Amino acid sequence: MAPRELPSASIADTVQFNQAIIVPNAVQGLFRRRPGPVGVATRLGLDGRAVRLMEGLRARYAPGPVWIRVMKDRVLLCLDVEDVARTLDGSPHPFASDPPAKRTGMGHFQPDALTLSRGELWENRRRFTEAVLETPAAVHSLAGGFLDVVVEETDRLLSVAAAEGGGTLDFEAWHAMFRRLTRRIVLGDHAAEDEEVSELLASLMSEANGLPSEPSEIYPAYTERLDAYVEAAEPGSLVSLFAGAPHDVDTRAAGQATHWLFALQDTLATNALRALALVATHPAQRAVVDRELEGDEAPYLAACLQEAMRLFPTTPLLSRETLVDVAWHGTTVPKGTQVLIVNGFHHRDRARLEYADRFAPEAWTEGDAGSERAFNHFSSGPQGCPGRNLALLVGTAVLAQVLRGWPAVVVAGVADGLSPDAPLPYSLNPSALRFAARGPGGSGGGGVADS
Ligand code: HEM
Repeated sequence: MAPRELPSASIADTVQFNQAIIVPNAVQGLFRRRPGPVGVATRLGLDGRAVRLMEGLRARYAPGPVWIRVMKDRVLLCLDVEDVARTLDGSPHPFASDPPAKRTGMGHFQPDALTLSRGELWENRRRFTEAVLETPAAVHSLAGGFLDVVVEETDRLLSVAAAEGGGTLDFEAWHAMFRRLTRRIVLGDHAAEDEEVSELLASLMSEANGLPSEPSEIYPAYTERLDAYVEAAEPGSLVSLFAGAPHDVDTRAAGQATHWLFALQDTLATNALRALALVATHPAQRAVVDRELEGDEAPYLAACLQEAMRLFPTTPLLSRETLVDVAWHGTTVPKGTQVLIVNGFHHRDRARLEYADRFAPEAWTEGDAGSERAFNHFSSGPQGCPGRNLALLVGTAVLAQVLRGWPAVVVAGVADGLSPDAPLPYSLNPSALRFAARGPGGSGGGGVADS
């Protein structure tokens, strides 16, 4: 029997796919989101259009992936969750996670990154990363100190917001707090004031959005600063664990910390603020959180954070490249093929998930969301995020501290349509969110303020 060919998308579908997904993603910033274009994309509802388009593609071309042109490349787009799982279970071999655009862009600010590494080098760097981040542990051995940092920095944020911000909190202040907290956790307390190291990294990431072919002029200044912190290895910080973690010259230990810096200070900051907005606009879930905060553990609040990431994934697309010919659905996918996973679609799959478009933390605490292969905000499989537990620990602790300090916190101003009574929107622009204390003892108590 002749091998079955995988289908190819029509010209109309290809044009729409590029218009609705590829171009907006690039314009909003592949490595550092640009607030202006993110606001425009949110207003235009582009993420919702993308999900509808993906539903149409699946109806027309599944089962199996479909060939589609992305700019000048012919890539394979996963439509079924089985193909998503297969791709991620096979990463980084045969599905390498460094297709050309990612290599060019990320290579600009972290040329030694684990996620750009292949084969033995990936294994070497992954071993080191997992040892320092203590990936399999639910609670990191340095968690006690990290949580002290969280409490100090969050309390500071709330008191500055009360004194200078008129009792309101926005993404700018929130993000600055996350940057400080991140520097202390990753590099040590002596980096608390070093705004410049964060700023250098942010500038490098902005440059990377343009997929530059020339090395950056500021990269040497950034690495010099980073190396000095690694060298100093302040006790209690992540870099203090480098010496005891398995590594050699190829590991490029200091080069691994860049990913941790931006993942904590940018990615987690965005996700945690969205989670706060969801909790603040959903009274029933909020009541569960409030009860939970009377105790020490906060699994439901951690689930709220997971939900924010499911609903609004900060990694909207996962891309891979085949390192060898791969047998797939009775055909051979040639070496060098790019494979694409659209997280935003699989996370909101109405055909599979009863709770696709609502805020459902109980799906994590009581249901099987934790093992759902469609959810890949942390990716999954051998190359899944090694900082997942650390991110959940820190993010949940920040949220808990805010909700304790501002028990009646409400979303003030734009809430981008967050409500338990209607399907949730597909985007939630962090820069547009603003919170008001209305407390303690205030009358806010959940819901969207009318201010
Ligand atoms: C909410 C926060 C975070 C989210 C949503 C997140 C998400 C992800 C995703 C989706 C990937 C896979 C990317 C791909 O394959 O293209 C990834 C990989 C990675 N993450 Fe995270 N991450 C977060 C926090 C962290 C933190 C806090 C750290 C470290 C301290 C970290 C370190 C890494 C590293 C090193 C990789 C590369 C893994 C590899 O290639 O083997 N992440 N993360």
